[in-house]
Amino acid sequence: MTKLSGIRACVFDAYGTIFDFASAAARCADIPEEKRGALTMLWRDKQLQYTWLRTLQGRYADFWQVTGEALDFALESLGLASPALRERLMQLYLTLEAFPEVPETLRTLRATGFTTAILSNGSPAMLEAVVRGAGLHDLFDAVLSADAVKAFKTHPSVYEYGLRALGVGAHETSFQSSNAWDAYAASAFGMRVVWCNRYGQRPERLPGAPDHEVRSLAELPELLTA
Ligand code: 2OP
Repeated sequence: MTKLSGIRACVFDAYGTIFDFASAAARCADIPEEKRGALTMLWRDKQLQYTWLRTLQGRYADFWQVTGEALDFALESLGLASPALRERLMQLYLTLEAFPEVPETLRTLRATGFTTAILSNGSPAMLEAVVRGAGLHDLFDAVLSADAVKAFKTHPSVYEYGLRALGVGAHETSFQSSNAWDAYAASAFGMRVVWCNRYGQRPERLPGAPDHEVRSLAELPELLTA
């Protein structure tokens, strides 16, 4: 195992990497159990598609709006459309659960001297809520939103913004994402990348090549050195 050396900052994607987006539908008792998985997947797929399409079209709207519009599509597709359910799920999105290994991993990384940050498509208000709700606010040096550049990942301006905000170079940064598309794009951009392949995704056929693939962030600290 080759360690990534010369690392100063550990930068994390938020949704799916730090926070479990499936925990919204899972905690919503008024959705029939057999539809929760399908809702989670369709909501997520549409949310991502809308970020990419809006960025391509130069028609940015913040992630709260995009997430709501994706939810409307998903609820209607599954015959679940209801304003009350929509409202509940959107509120639950603000209090998603963190994956169990996250707090300890962040503590270890910070004790080792790494800067820790989130770089996410989430709007500043969404990220503030979800980070606080999970009790992680003391464990990140910075919570950075793509909203600052009015584009979504994988637009290079988002990764560029992350480095600029932290004052680190791409090669001094280890970027972690559970989203293969995000991991490959950050690698193509020049960051060092640890792909946290929680969902057992297939490798992408896209530019970039993650330096490491892990199943849980608990494996991260031993892969990095200053
Ligand atoms: C993010 O946090 C959407 O997972 C993506 O930027």
